[in-house]
Amino acid sequence: MSLPHDDGAPPVLPASGLGADGAVPGAEAEQAWISVIQKMDETYAELLAQQVELEAKNEALEEAHAFIAGVMASMTDVLIACDLAGRIEQVNVAAERLFGRPASVLQVQRLADLIAPESPASFSDVLTTVARRERIADRDFTFLTPEGPLPVSVNGAIRFDPRGRAVGITLMGRPVGELRKAYSDLAAAHERLKETQQQLVQAEKMASLGRLVAGVAHELNNPISFVYGNAHTMKRYAERLATYLDALHGAPSPAAVSGLRGELKIDRTLAELGPTLAGMLEGAERVRDIVADLRRFSSDRRQGDEAVDMAGLVRSALDWVAKAQQPDVAIFTDLPDGLDVTGHPGQLHQVMMNLVQNALDALEGAPVRRLEITGRREGERVVVRVRDSGPGIAPDILSRVFDPFFTTKPVGKGTGLGLSICYRIVQEHEGTLAAANAPEGGAVMTLSLPAAGSTP
Ligand SMILES: Nc1ncnc2c1ncn2[C@@H]1O[C@H](COP(=O)(O)OP(=O)(O)O)[C@@H](O)[C@H]1O
Ligand SMILES: [Mg+2]
Repeated sequence: MSLPHDDGAPPVLPASGLGADGAVPGAEAEQAWISVIQKMDETYAELLAQQVELEAKNEALEEAHAFIAGVMASMTDVLIACDLAGRIEQVNVAAERLFGRPASVLQVQRLADLIAPESPASFSDVLTTVARRERIADRDFTFLTPEGPLPVSVNGAIRFDPRGRAVGITLMGRPVGELRKAYSDLAAAHERLKETQQQLVQAEKMASLGRLVAGVAHELNNPISFVYGNAHTMKRYAERLATYLDALHGAPSPAAVSGLRGELKIDRTLAELGPTLAGMLEGAERVRDIVADLRRFSSDRRQGDEAVDMAGLVRSALDWVAKAQQPDVAIFTDLPDGLDVTGHPGQLHQVMMNLVQNALDALEGAPVRRLEITGRREGERVVVRVRDSGPGIAPDILSRVFDPFFTTKPVGKGTGLGLSICYRIVQEHEGTLAAANAPEGGAVMTLSLPAAGSTP
């Protein structure tokens, strides 16, 4: 840098720059000038740098400010910042909207003035919570708004300055109406869903009731018409016999009696009386059995439990069914000791009898007639498999064999209730019953029950 220099009066220098006698020598004076100007230069450069830094900081600050203002403005929740005395310092657009006043007006008010007297929570509640250094969580306030008192759910916390001193309280609120509406919308949707579900269940119940009633009607129709027909025959017989007896009381000649006897078919009537009555009885018994089956089907009461040896039970079921029918079937059993379960022997017996009966039915007309029953203890369970060499169960009906009244047997032979009753009984014994086809042909029914003493 060139130095402004003239040969006129020397510059006034600080006292320290003066010689002892107060006079300044020429070279020294020049040096003093240079150092002064250098100092000025340095200071100026420093100032410039500080100015640039300040401007950058200011810009960052303005950006941060704009960002915060943008966030606050975009919030749908109401935001109120106040000092520890409850004087409002800042609000957002949502708060302006809620209170119907601009920020400039709100910012000179006290928070307490915005709270309705009937508000469940008050400003002093806020202060108490804050004093305990706790958060304000979902407190119900009622704020005074141009539309009247409005319930608002408020969350908030204490605000600190950069040095960690508590300086104020920030509150955030959402009108409860909105929450309630969202909640009631949800509740209504849930209600509709439940209703639809109930309707579906009801429809299903009605459908299965319909199937049940149709099945029962079909089942009962046969024996009832049998009883009905026989009753009519009996009526005819009774009339003939009454006529015959009346004639006998009139003491007719033996020839007349004999003629009447032939005419009224008395001998045939007497001969058929027994079978006709037996037929009626059979029909009535069938009706009774169907009703008993139905009763069992509808009762889910589990009667007294006792120890049941499945091996003995299987043998007895085989005996009963086989004795009654004497089928031409080769029967194999493999029933080791220790197949004990706990349950109702009568009901389990019924299950086995049904399974054996179905197997025998399936073997009717089969080229190989073989029935095999095995019992196994498999871990905590007793598993009994009933396998026959019949035609097996067609895959498309496998899933339906347990349905009540599902039968492929001719009317009068099958009720279609057997397996569904078995299924229910087994279920009540915490067991399972499954139908499948054996790889080598024929059906295999697998009954699995918890072994006695096992913990299910
Ligand atoms: N061992 C089996 N082999 C082939 N089909 C079977 C066997 N057991 C059951 N089914 C089928 O399941 C149906 C339903 O059986 P079930 O409920 O006992 O009624 P039902 O014996 O009166 O027909 C039978 O009609 C038959 O089609
Ligand atoms: Mg059956």
